[in-house]
Amino acid sequence: METKQNTYYIFNYGCQMNASDTEHYAGQLEELGYAPAEDFRKADVIVVNTCCVRESAEKKIAGKIGELKNIKIKNPDMVICVAGCMAQKDGEKLLKKHPQVDLLLGTAYVNDFKSILTEYLAERKGKYYTDLTIHQSEFEGKMVRQSSFSAWIPIMYGCNNFCTYCIVPYVRGRERSRAIENIVAEIEQAVEEGYKEFTLLGQNVNSYGKDFGEKNAFAKLLRRVNEIKGVERIRYMTSHPRDMNEEVIKAVAECEHVCENFHVPFQAGSNEILRRMNRGYSREKYLELIKMIRSYVPDAAITTDIIVGFPGETEQDFEDTLALVQEVGFDAAFTFIYSKRSGTPAAKMEEQVPLAVKKDRLNRLMEVQNLSSLHRNKELIGKTVEVLAEGPSKNPAVWTGRTRTNKLVLWPAESRIYNAGEKVLVKIDTAQTWLVKGKAVQDV
Ligand code: SAH
Ligand code: SF4
Ligand code: F3S
Repeated sequence: METKQNTYYIFNYGCQMNASDTEHYAGQLEELGYAPAEDFRKADVIVVNTCCVRESAEKKIAGKIGELKNIKIKNPDMVICVAGCMAQKDGEKLLKKHPQVDLLLGTAYVNDFKSILTEYLAERKGKYYTDLTIHQSEFEGKMVRQSSFSAWIPIMYGCNNFCTYCIVPYVRGRERSRAIENIVAEIEQAVEEGYKEFTLLGQNVNSYGKDFGEKNAFAKLLRRVNEIKGVERIRYMTSHPRDMNEEVIKAVAECEHVCENFHVPFQAGSNEILRRMNRGYSREKYLELIKMIRSYVPDAAITTDIIVGFPGETEQDFEDTLALVQEVGFDAAFTFIYSKRSGTPAAKMEEQVPLAVKKDRLNRLMEVQNLSSLHRNKELIGKTVEVLAEGPSKNPAVWTGRTRTNKLVLWPAESRIYNAGEKVLVKIDTAQTWLVKGKAVQDV
């Protein structure tokens, strides 16, 4: 008799760190013999990998967990596991609120998922695993990667910065770095499997290796990965402006495979707000850093994260943010409305900014940033850029890919069939706010 293959489905939310953890959950499930489910309603195991960085994320996820209640009633043998940052934050409370959840897996247990699930299946007794003191940082086992050519590589976990608005240090624990050889081994393995692009991940990659007591370890890591045969592109995120330094910028300038893209979140343009955010740099220092980046890597794309409506942000403070955006001319920015996270110092600060004011500031900021993105993209018109092909757009006759500076490029495939990860030269003729368009050079 044919036995039915067990299946899994993973809902992923949050940052690239979570995306990478999801690939590791999928890897462990496949090691246990599970296959991806086409329909989550019929899966044997569902993992909801959660984020709690802003209230909006939490609301969306709570809705999804609620939706699973009815599905579980129809399929009571199904295992529902809630993992990630919200599981870490809410712990037992979340289990009480959502009795359909069987397992709760905090952020320090990613490596242990396989054994935890096996144990659960033997006993069928719901449990939560939210101890943050288990600081395992070496990675083992299989990854089921989403992309066929671009791989997420975690290089460190946790964050020690305690920016006053941010929940991440509380749910991801203290910084711990992976050993360089463990990272290199994972990349070499992925190269063998055909991967070409590697994004080194951490909440603050520039403090990589500090826990080993090593100086400039991140710059050294970039240089080491650059040497690995078969690696075409190296990206990394996120950089903290306080810890980004000349050694790293030099490494980017000198390493052939490290992309000319700097993501340096400045969060706020006013020194008073930066101080209250506990960011550890001033507007002036940030501008010096941008100058240094441009002097070493003139064609670099520079992107950032910005928060509007931090407690006590006055109109003048906000205008300082707008002025900084105009002065730097970012290629793109992720802009957020400040979201109160209980347990963080900023949540207790007085002078919370009314929502209507926050929304108005966000709109004004986006207007300025969109013009800047368009302006930067227009500078590419007439230039030929190197693109790694990703896949067809909604229109199958038009392909998409990204430049080394991480800009989205669209071009007509004509009669050609591209492979994902293939290098294509595209001559840009059109610029929009979010993308550029052109023609493959062999077709020009
Ligand atoms: N470690 C990274 C990213 C952290 S989360 C860094 O330091 O840059 C990604 C972004 O979410 C942050 O850069 C910040 O802009 C935003 N963010 C974090 N907490 C927030 C909050 N409480 N409200 C609004 N945005 C927030
Ligand atoms: Fe949060 Fe700041 Fe750490 Fe980034 S550096 S994760 S914003 S505390
Ligand atoms: Fe969210 Fe956790 Fe990432 S809170 S942004 S998934 S580190």
